Amino acid sequence: MAEYSSLLADSVLRHKAWFAEHTARIETQLASTVKSEFIANMSHELRTPLNTVIGFAKLLGEHQKRALADAEVVEYADLIRDAATHLLAVINDILDMSKMQSGKYTLDAGEVELDEILQAALASFRPTAVEVGITLGGQIDRHLPMVKGDPAKLRQVFTNLIGNALKFTPPGGSVTIEAGTGAGGGATVRVRDTGLGMTGEEIAVALTPFGQVDASRSRWREGTGLGLPIAKALVQLHGGRLEIRSAKTLGTEVTVVLPQGSEVSDVHRRAAPRDAAHHGAP
Ligand SMILES: Nc1ncnc2c1ncn2[C@@H]1O[C@H](COP(=O)(O)OP(=O)(O)OP(=O)(O)O)[C@@H](O)[C@H]1O
Ligand SMILES: [Mg+2]
Repeated sequence: MAEYSSLLADSVLRHKAWFAEHTARIETQLASTVKSEFIANMSHELRTPLNTVIGFAKLLGEHQKRALADAEVVEYADLIRDAATHLLAVINDILDMSKMQSGKYTLDAGEVELDEILQAALASFRPTAVEVGITLGGQIDRHLPMVKGDPAKLRQVFTNLIGNALKFTPPGGSVTIEAGTGAGGGATVRVRDTGLGMTGEEIAVALTPFGQVDASRSRWREGTGLGLPIAKALVQLHGGRLEIRSAKTLGTEVTVVLPQGSEVSDVHRRAAPRDAAHHGAP
């Protein structure tokens, strides 16, 4: 009997060891697949605008031979500037993403006037909303609870959320920003739209770096798919949470909850001024 139980124990241990090794191997393979996908996406995102820059710079270089009209020269220069600006934004996002993943991201923590941030974000999007025919409204409580955090990063979060709501809502729709005090005493901000909406699976894609629900459209000018995962990570660094509720064709509601006077953790608080200035607002 003793011999039998010892054999059984050996076999259980062997099985456990095999299982641990097997799981570790799968995890390594998965990490390497995710990494290669990340690099493939990143190369694509960098190459597309770079090709635009090279192509139009070449055309401009040949302006005499091609007898380009003044208007064409201006148009090509604008396209180059657009592509380069986009490229810079993508590079900044990729750097932010990789810093967050390696835990080296720092916040320049201070006291945040959330209502000012939201009002400013609303005001900056008003001309776009008018241009694309979307009603943009805000119900922002003047007495929002004080939040501790990094104003530039919180601005980045809401700029992306409002930008997304406008981008993925057809003309005639509406985008509303509501902000008030949540049940737990913190601030709750909702960005709601009447746009394309997403299924549960699509929400998961949207939260993955470079994930775009409709990747078929040629829309490098419209973004890279890094905004939402960065926004979620930034909210979490503030001790808060970001949740998405959405229904296909009906619209999307993104809720950000920030705890009252939330203490940014010590690790993230250590922002050296030079470092903090380095990753500025979008
Ligand atoms: N309000 C929304 N309604 C419908 N789809 C959305 C909404 N917000 C995000 N999505 C989907 O999620 C994807 C990822 O959003 P995310 O903000 O990360 O990227 P992006 O806006 O495409 O680019 P950027 O990096 O410039 O933000 C979008 O491409 C879109 O497909
Ligand atoms: Mg976005």
